[in-house]
Amino acid sequence: MREHAPVTVTPEEQAEQRAYMEKVRELPHRPTSYYVVTYGCQMNAHDSEKLAGMLSEMGMTEASSREQADLVLFNTCCVRDNAERRALGNVTWLKELKKDKPELIIGVCGCMIQQPGMAEKILRQYKFIDLAFGTSNLHRLPQLLYEELESARPVVEVDATENLIAEGLPVKRLRPDHAYITIMYGCDNFCSYCIVPYVRGRERSREADAIIREAEALYAGGVKEIMLLGQNVNSYGKGLEGGVSFAGLLRQLDAIGIPRIRFMTSHPKDLSQELIEAMGECKHVCPQFHLPVQSGNDGILRAMNRHYDRAAYLDKVARLRKAVPGIGLTTDIIVGFPGETEEQFQDTLSLVREVGYDSAFTFIFSPRPGTRAAAMPDQVPADVAQDRLERLLQVQEAAQLQAQRRFLDAQEEVLVESLSRRSAQAVSGKGLHGISVTFPGSLRDVGEIVPVRITECANNTLRGERLDKEKE
Ligand code: SAH
Ligand code: SF4
Ligand code: F3S
Repeated sequence: MREHAPVTVTPEEQAEQRAYMEKVRELPHRPTSYYVVTYGCQMNAHDSEKLAGMLSEMGMTEASSREQADLVLFNTCCVRDNAERRALGNVTWLKELKKDKPELIIGVCGCMIQQPGMAEKILRQYKFIDLAFGTSNLHRLPQLLYEELESARPVVEVDATENLIAEGLPVKRLRPDHAYITIMYGCDNFCSYCIVPYVRGRERSREADAIIREAEALYAGGVKEIMLLGQNVNSYGKGLEGGVSFAGLLRQLDAIGIPRIRFMTSHPKDLSQELIEAMGECKHVCPQFHLPVQSGNDGILRAMNRHYDRAAYLDKVARLRKAVPGIGLTTDIIVGFPGETEEQFQDTLSLVREVGYDSAFTFIFSPRPGTRAAAMPDQVPADVAQDRLERLLQVQEAAQLQAQRRFLDAQEEVLVESLSRRSAQAVSGKGLHGISVTFPGSLRDVGEIVPVRITECANNTLRGERLDKEKE
C-alpha cells in the first residue's frame, strides 16, 4: 500500500474560500434559497450539513422543498446501482422544473461524481446541470458556485487529491441534540465488491485534538449524543503522530461528559481487545455495536477480501457480549456475491440465527465498475439473489424478535427524535442499545432523554411506557 500523508486544507485555502463566500453574498443575482438532497451513508449526511453550512454563510436560507429552492444540490452515493439510479431519476425530474424557472441552479456532488469520467458523462447527458464536483472538492463549493454564477456556464471540478482533510468548515447541523463528528476519511480495505475506497480516497485520520475540541464545543452547546464517523473507525489513528488508537480516542471523549457516544462503522478484522475493554469501561459509550459481517461463509469472506473468517467473527461477538452484557448488535449482509452457492448462503442464514442481531441491513450484490468482484465469474442470477434476500429477511426477522425479548420489562433511556409517524400522541427515539423505541409523548419531549419501560417488541421498534409520569 502506498503511504499518503494526510494534507489538511491550508489556512490560506480556507481564507480564500471564506473570501469567495463573501463574494457570492454580494452578487446581486445569487440564489437566495437552497435545498440539499442526500443519498447514502451518515458520512454523506454529515457532508450535506457542511454543504448547508457553506450555503448559509453565503446568505442563502434553506427552502422547505426542492420546488421552492433557487439552488438544488444532490449529494450522491454510488455504493449500489440503485443508489445511482435513484439520484439520476430525481435529477431528471428537476429538468421540468427548470423549464418554468430558468434561473434554477442544479448541482450534483458526492461519491457518484468522484468516479473517473462520471462528471463529464453526466454533464453530456444532462445538459441542464450547472455544477458538478467530487468528494475531494466539497470545501471548494464557494469558489465553484461563484465561478458558475459569474460565467453562467457549467462548472466541473473533480480532483484526485484524495488525501485532503478539510478542517474548519461551517456546519449547519440537522439536530440540536445530536451531532455527527467525522474522525477519519477514506478507506484502505478494498473489499472486493466495494467502490468506497475509489471514491473516498485513502484512509486518513483527523488529529485527536481537533476531534476533542469539536466534541467539547458541541457539548457546551447542548448536544446530548455524538456519532463518530468513519468507514473503518477501528483503524483510527494509523499514520498519526503520538499513536492514539480508537480505544484511546474513545476514552478521551468519554471524559468530556457528553451523555451518549456512538460510532460507526467498525471492521471486524480491526476490532481489538483494547477497544472491547474500552467499550466495557467507558461510562458514556452506548452499549451498541454495528459490526458488518457480510457473509457467514469462509470461502465468500475470502473472495470478498474481508480478512476474517466466521470463527474469528463469532469470537469477537462473544467477547463483546461478555464485556458489555446485553449489547445491541447490528450488521450488514450481502447476498448473491459472485460464485455464492446455496450451501454457502445457508452459512449466512445459520450465522444470523446464531448471533441474533437486533437489526441487519441486507443487500443484493451490485457489481460496481472498477471493483474486482464486478469482473468475477459466476455472477448470481437476479432471481436467485432476490430469493435469497427474501429468505434472509425472514430468518433475520424471527431471530431479531427472539433477541429483543431481552428488553421486555427492562428500562431504556430514550433520546427523543420526533413525533411517531403512526400517532400524534406518541414519540420515538433511540434507546441506549441503538434500537428505536416508541412511547406516549408530545413535541416537547423532542431532544430530551426519557426513561421508558419496554412493554412490547414489534419488528424494528420497541414500545413502552414512560417512567417520568409527572411530565406526561
Ligand atoms: N465501511 C463500512 C460500510 C460501507 S458501505 C463497512 O465496511 O462496513 C455499507 C454496506 O453496503 C456494506 O457494509 C456492504 O454490506 C454494502 N455494500 C457495499 N458495496 C456493495 C455492493 N457492491 N453491493 C451490495 N452491497 C454493497
Ligand atoms: Fe467498503 Fe470494505 Fe472499506 Fe467498508 S471496509 S468501505 S465495505 S472497502
Ligand atoms: Fe455511498 Fe459514498 Fe457513503 S458511496 S455509502 S455515500 S461513502
